[in-house]
Amino acid sequence: MAKKTPAAETRAIATVAQDADVSDGSIRPRTLAEFVGQPKLVANLKVFIEAARERQEPLDHVLLAGPPGLGKTTLAQIISRELGANFRATSGPVLAKAGDLAAILTNLQERDVLFIDEIHRLNPLVEEILYPAMEDFELDLVIGEGPSARSVRIELPRFTLIGATTRTGLLATPLRDRFGIPARLNYYEIGDLISIVERAAVLLKAPIVPAGAAEIARRSRGTPRVAGRLLRRVRDFAAVEGSSRIDAAIADRALTRLEVDGLGLDAMDRRYMRAIAESFDGGPVGVESLAAALSEPRDSIEEIIEPFLIQQGLLQRTPRGRVLAPAGYVHLGLLPPRRPAIAQLDLISEGTEANARK
Ligand SMILES: Nc1ncnc2c1ncn2[C@@H]1O[C@H](COP(=O)(O)OP(=O)(O)OP(=O)(O)O)[C@@H](O)[C@H]1O
Ligand SMILES: [Mg+2]
Repeated sequence: MAKKTPAAETRAIATVAQDADVSDGSIRPRTLAEFVGQPKLVANLKVFIEAARERQEPLDHVLLAGPPGLGKTTLAQIISRELGANFRATSGPVLAKAGDLAAILTNLQERDVLFIDEIHRLNPLVEEILYPAMEDFELDLVIGEGPSARSVRIELPRFTLIGATTRTGLLATPLRDRFGIPARLNYYEIGDLISIVERAAVLLKAPIVPAGAAEIARRSRGTPRVAGRLLRRVRDFAAVEGSSRIDAAIADRALTRLEVDGLGLDAMDRRYMRAIAESFDGGPVGVESLAAALSEPRDSIEEIIEPFLIQQGLLQRTPRGRVLAPAGYVHLGLLPPRRPAIAQLDLISEGTEANARK
């Protein structure tokens, strides 16, 4: 077993949760002071980090939850930097066997930060190992097989686990309960997104006027990663057009060509809404049916598309399925159906029904 673990650990660690966009590192904020937005969360984290530092203790385990691209990985790195701790990163799907996690845990040093991305996708057998590790900094390992198997308990250094998830709902309650600091990231306010675009433009050496930054920010789906990506694309258009600065008109032209509309919805978002309106009569429709109709994995529908549409009031999630909200119809340029949505029939009182029968 000793032979296998270093390799397993290297593999697990090598898949550090980095963004696919290689150039991303250059605009990633590195300190809490540089991190824009999420003011309540940042203020609380400051207190907890400072207290832990003063007591010379590891920070309590942190769970970062929220839609993709809102800064979970960034924040995890910042926390470890602010703590002056080592940062070790891995992710749920990579940890196939209990031994993979055991190898990582036994190699930690006191007060290290261990980051597990996509923690909702941990194998349950691996998760079992995590419980005593988080709670008592102990590792229970079974060595050998069959009658000669015995279990050994190993003491671990006291570390901080930072878990990131796009889906808190999929996290087992015992796991969720072991995080002393549960934190939720929300979609960013427009003002924060403007600051993020302006900061990124400086780092990318892309001159931009305030109205240009505002246009990109407004169409960024409340998401810093999208803001960064759109800024890069708009910069490309500006360069090809030979403009020295990004203004609102260039931003608008570029984003329109990228099929990003005024609300920041992309072609996929609109395809999703249109499917509900046209193929499913406005809903309610189950996510599985939608996934089949769109040939999209259910996960990306639930993690990426729906949260923003719901936040924007374009979509409703009811116990019977997804329903396109009136604002959703308006945005598509369609007339909302005149009949009450089927989901709302549930609410109609008996009196009304009696009236209807007359
Ligand atoms: N508050 C912020 N201020 C400035 N830039 C930010 C902020 N939050 C995130 N970013 C930028 O957005 C990008 C995405 O952030 P990050 O990778 O941390 O998101 P994530 O929540 O981990 O996403 P995923 O769920 O897909 O892993 C990074 O390039 C980062 O630079
Ligand atoms: Mg991430």
